[in-house]
Amino acid sequence: MPEGNAARPEPRRVILDCDPGIDDALAILLALRSPEIRVEAITAVAGNVPLERTAENALKLTELAGCPDLPVAAGASHPLERKLELADFVHGPDGLGGLELPAPSRSLDPRPAWEVLAQAALGNPEPLTVVAVGPLTNIALALEAAPDFAWQVEELIVMGGSECGGNATPAAEYNVYADPEAAQKVFASGAQITLLTLEATRQATLRREHLERLRGGGGPVSRAAAHLAAYYLDFAASHGADAAALHDPLAVGLAIDRSFATETVSANVQVETRGEITYGATVINRRLSARPRIDAGEFIRRGDPEPVAPNARLPVKIDGERFTAFLIDRLLD
Ligand code: BDR
Ligand code: CA
Repeated sequence: MPEGNAARPEPRRVILDCDPGIDDALAILLALRSPEIRVEAITAVAGNVPLERTAENALKLTELAGCPDLPVAAGASHPLERKLELADFVHGPDGLGGLELPAPSRSLDPRPAWEVLAQAALGNPEPLTVVAVGPLTNIALALEAAPDFAWQVEELIVMGGSECGGNATPAAEYNVYADPEAAQKVFASGAQITLLTLEATRQATLRREHLERLRGGGGPVSRAAAHLAAYYLDFAASHGADAAALHDPLAVGLAIDRSFATETVSANVQVETRGEITYGATVINRRLSARPRIDAGEFIRRGDPEPVAPNARLPVKIDGERFTAFLIDRLLD
């Protein structure tokens, strides 16, 4: 498992899979303004808003960040098995809280996102980190297209899931809830997964004082980031909160600097794909053991605890204040 970039002579090669989305947009800007990583492509998935929007938003944001040649590919327009449930009540109908950006001057990469992901992982000996901050449909499709994808990706940093309670439903976090079948395939794939749950990302928050700092920057990136931050904070305020969690930027933050996580545990993560009221919930076993069910005729008994293999590493303590300050610095121009 890679432990940050200090020992790396070269910037870390990254693909960002996302559904912009306000916090996705901040994550894209952070990634493209961070010399510690080299973003090779951005892949868009349907999620917060429909695919045409997420893909177009990604294109516009790469141009805003001064990377007009960076490939942007569109992927899945709907989840593997269910109907897409949007989160446009959070992000606005356009996904960017009404942020006005020039129409993109170029087209999308002609390849589907999962092909871009598979080719980047398999066709290049340089290690690849994938940061996935939307529903996991594109990643599941990349695994289907190239089963070796799981072993070829050095690290898959996922923002999704929760240990206790959700934000899409009382049980489920949005990215996993939006495509639980895809998420379960990803957790079962054997990939080296770092999972940032809601409990982790809620430790890194954006507040009014950060918005004021962004407003102090005069350049186009600061202005766009301030617009996104203001919209996001207004949404939080409408729910009685004075801070908004920096879910997706934190996932990019970990690719840049692992020390934003100050404690990490191993766990086994499974996704509920059948439950009616718990559909899309993540079941996270930190204990790494379970008692097997034994059919003993009239009753079921539990046997002695047996080990359960970990399939993810979970950052559980985050230096949130340092991360948010770092993010704001990177977004100022
Ligand atoms: C996740 O849900 C989306 O709405 C955000 O962009 C983030 O990726 C947080 O649960
Ligand atoms: Ca997202």
